[in-house]
Amino acid sequence: MTEARADLPIGVFDSGVGGVTVLRAMRERLPQERLLYLGDTARLPYGTKSRETIAQYCLQASAKLVERGVKMLVVACNTATAAALPALRAAFAPVPVIGVVEPGSAAAARVSVGGRICVIATEATIRSKAYQEAILRRRPDAVVTGRPCTLFVPLAEEGWMDGPLVEGIAARYLDDVFGSRAPVPRPDTLLLGCTHFPLLKEALQRVVGDEVALVDSAATTADAVRDELERGALRRTGSVEDITFLTTDDPERFARTGSLFLGRPIAQSAVELVDL
Ligand code: DGL
Repeated sequence: MTEARADLPIGVFDSGVGGVTVLRAMRERLPQERLLYLGDTARLPYGTKSRETIAQYCLQASAKLVERGVKMLVVACNTATAAALPALRAAFAPVPVIGVVEPGSAAAARVSVGGRICVIATEATIRSKAYQEAILRRRPDAVVTGRPCTLFVPLAEEGWMDGPLVEGIAARYLDDVFGSRAPVPRPDTLLLGCTHFPLLKEALQRVVGDEVALVDSAATTADAVRDELERGALRRTGSVEDITFLTTDDPERFARTGSLFLGRPIAQSAVELVDL
């Protein structure tokens, strides 16, 4: 029974292709696992919507993955994690549900030297204060600033990762935290609290300066998944390259933008259109 469960894929979802940054880290760390990814691109963005709407979308996306048979759910979206993690755990127990906020907070709390952390994320994530609270639980001495950076999501989905336009938008969002007139000392760590943002990493580093550490939740989430698999004796043995993609809108577009996030091509034929 446990062996049959261990053979099931891990379900991963995001509002779009951003969660593929987490999927990529999982594939690198857990190459023997089968992965089933759902991007709810028809309803993207989640980050500008109300908590109730986001929670409803998350329940529907997760139900689709659970219906297909998964041994674990990974909420590869900060907005979804901040709005719905307890509701998803309650709805799908005993399937373990892993979010990205705790792993991201752990990474920032560990990396920050002076405890001055700026979190950039969607409006909904910043409004929820999920990151601010999770970091302070780990590091009560931390000074956490949050800034919503709404336009980074469409920029990443469009594959616009660097250049003067991206840096100009980033500079405008971050001016009062990192600009020349920002209060000192400035944050020493920038936490990318949205799974879309790692694509803009180089542009963001140029804007905030090399002395600021950039952290995201992809690697630490993959570690949390591994730990949870081990705890539940759910690790799969053997090795396969088995990633299936589901999307709620245009598979061609998903394959094209998803390839950027995965760092290698996704065939359109590997992407299935589903209805939630
Ligand atoms: N990828 C989502 C996150 O990590 C944000 C995208 C959206 O607004 O839907 O928060």
